[in-house]
Amino acid sequence: MPGPWPLTAERDARGALTIGGVAVTDLAREHGTPLWIVDEHDLRQRCQRYVTGFPGVDVVYASKAWCTVGLLQLVDQEGLLVDVASGGELHTALVAGVAPERLVFHGNNKSIEELDRALEVGVGRIVVDSFDELHRLDRLAAARGTVAPIWLRITPGIDAHTHDYVRTGHDDAKFGFTLSLGLADEALSTARELAHVEVLGIHAHIGSQIFGTDPFIANAEVTLDLMARWREEHGIVLTELNLGGGMGIRYTHEDHPVEVARYGDAVVRTVEERCVALGYPRPRLLVEPGRAIVGPSTITLYEVGTVKPLPGLTTWVSVDGGMSDNIRPALYDAEHEIALVGRGSEVPPRAVTVVGKHCESGDLVRDHAPLPGDLAVGDLIAVAATGAYTASMSSRYNQLPRPAAVLVREGEVRELVRRESFDDLVRLDVPLFAREAQA
Ligand SMILES: Cc1ncc(COP(=O)(O)O)c(C=O)c1O
Repeated sequence: MPGPWPLTAERDARGALTIGGVAVTDLAREHGTPLWIVDEHDLRQRCQRYVTGFPGVDVVYASKAWCTVGLLQLVDQEGLLVDVASGGELHTALVAGVAPERLVFHGNNKSIEELDRALEVGVGRIVVDSFDELHRLDRLAAARGTVAPIWLRITPGIDAHTHDYVRTGHDDAKFGFTLSLGLADEALSTARELAHVEVLGIHAHIGSQIFGTDPFIANAEVTLDLMARWREEHGIVLTELNLGGGMGIRYTHEDHPVEVARYGDAVVRTVEERCVALGYPRPRLLVEPGRAIVGPSTITLYEVGTVKPLPGLTTWVSVDGGMSDNIRPALYDAEHEIALVGRGSEVPPRAVTVVGKHCESGDLVRDHAPLPGDLAVGDLIAVAATGAYTASMSSRYNQLPRPAAVLVREGEVRELVRRESFDDLVRLDVPLFAREAQA
């Protein structure tokens, strides 16, 4: 099966899908739909591929891709560090038991409370994104009588040719200090005048869902050249370099991502060669994948609720979730592979448009989905590679309770996140009147 499907995904004798040795039909019966199903073997394998594919490099899991206590425990066990980008992600990592010194704290607008909490718990590195933050952090560290260990986030002027919403390395970006405008240099000079921040290195993340190694190689070259220039001009030798995440994954059979080892080899070789050429000591290197760790390990299981063929037009197939559990098709025109999974079918496919149950025409799951012609109400269908930026971007639009997520491995099922109930939906609402008074 694999392609964009998790490593243990296979069809049983009846043609139904099993993952981690568990039939999706059983999961639907016991846990309901929509349901995120995470293949634990696949997830651990992907962590290991990064650890071994990037020898001598620290791998940081970008938890924005999917941040749950259980998932963070799992990636922590696999030896990855964790990147958090808000007080909430920081809290989740701490609840998961990740050691604070193994955390990297990102964000273009961290609040005073968030920064202070990071200092209080002793987060490993704080990635400073702006002059405002530099001064804010210095003041907070001074008040605590400490020195904040920081990296400067550089905007290196590399256009990674990915979707506009996930490009971050080009000059006119909301993140970081733009190199071409002299802001990175100014940030270094400013930081060095502040007594309560210590610049240990730089960070540059160029975007997401990037195919090919060239943008990453360019990123390594630009950042190393900068470090070497700063040694000449400022007499400072920075010893840490975080090259960010952004490695593309396979959402459909048409996607051809770079093998992790090839990517690791290209980056490590570039850094080593460049360091030799520049006579610069090899810095501690880090990479920060999110999507490539959790994306491919997960599928979303839905049940078909209606099938509406419009003669000469579209056949609309509605499922029981949609843009609230996966906003990517609506937000980025993203395409995920989709399949009938509750049973097999010999009936030739026809193109249908699979949509969600939200009150929004843009609530698309997959356009022109080639699904068997006998697809019917009650069938289970699955969407591949939904581990990254789906649950983490989920909403409760139309008051749909958020789905559960389960982890499967060798026939065993463990809940990662419980399904929300209707009561959960109103738990934080504050009624203005008692119900009786309202009647
Ligand atoms: C600073 C930073 N690091 C890492 C990542 C992870 O990117 P990806 O999930 O594409 O690997 C992101 C994603 O937006 C990011 O902003």
